[in-house]
Amino acid sequence: MPKSPLPETQADVLNVIRTRTVLRNYAPETIDDALVDRMLECMLAAPTASNKQAWSFVVVRDPANVRLLRAFSPGIIGTPSFVVVACVDRRLTAGLTGEISRKIYETSKLCVAMAVENLLLSAHALGFGGCPVSSFREEVLRHLLGLPEALEPVLLVPVGRAAQPPTPSDRRDKNEVISYEVWGNRTAEPAA
Ligand SMILES: Cc1cc2nc3c(=O)[nH]c(=O)nc-3n(C[C@H](O)[C@H](O)[C@H](O)COP(=O)(O)O)c2cc1C
Repeated sequence: MPKSPLPETQADVLNVIRTRTVLRNYAPETIDDALVDRMLECMLAAPTASNKQAWSFVVVRDPANVRLLRAFSPGIIGTPSFVVVACVDRRLTAGLTGEISRKIYETSKLCVAMAVENLLLSAHALGFGGCPVSSFREEVLRHLLGLPEALEPVLLVPVGRAAQPPTPSDRRDKNEVISYEVWGNRTAEPAA
């Protein structure tokens, strides 16, 4: 389908989303507080089930703590400027009962993942990069960060500036993964 040109800001936003790729090597750099705050603000703008915001984040910026975290997180490659530990916070769903409680419990990890994607996109928009990391030693992490029982770390997000430009990852062909109207129909009909 031919694409009509977009206004510049829209094109910029789409370009940020389209060109994000994981970054696993980081230049040694301290990122300004204001920039970190901007990324965190975008992270918290993610949608959550019933707007419960059943999440909690630990931002680790002290280089000694980043190194310690890295030592127990095989998924963190390179030494990032900071790491966000993204957790589900079960305290926010504790008072709920019945179907809504079950639903929110089930979806809370998805909400955390959405926040992580926002963080990755905002980092990319500001000229940095990061990587969602699920390979970490949860018990050690809990101890290092003093996490209460109700907090479940889901993903770590190392963030920094690229030491070398990352190589974009492959994507499966659009025609292999997208159907229209019913599964298996690969042809997009113009909307009526
Ligand atoms: C839930 C999840 C967990 C991941 N865990 C790790 C990890 O532990 N270590 C790692 O290096 N990359 C991890 N990744 C990054 C993926 O390897 C990466 O997103 C994938 O190869 C596609 O690359 P792209 O993000 O550049 O498109 C994870 C990604 C997701 C979504």
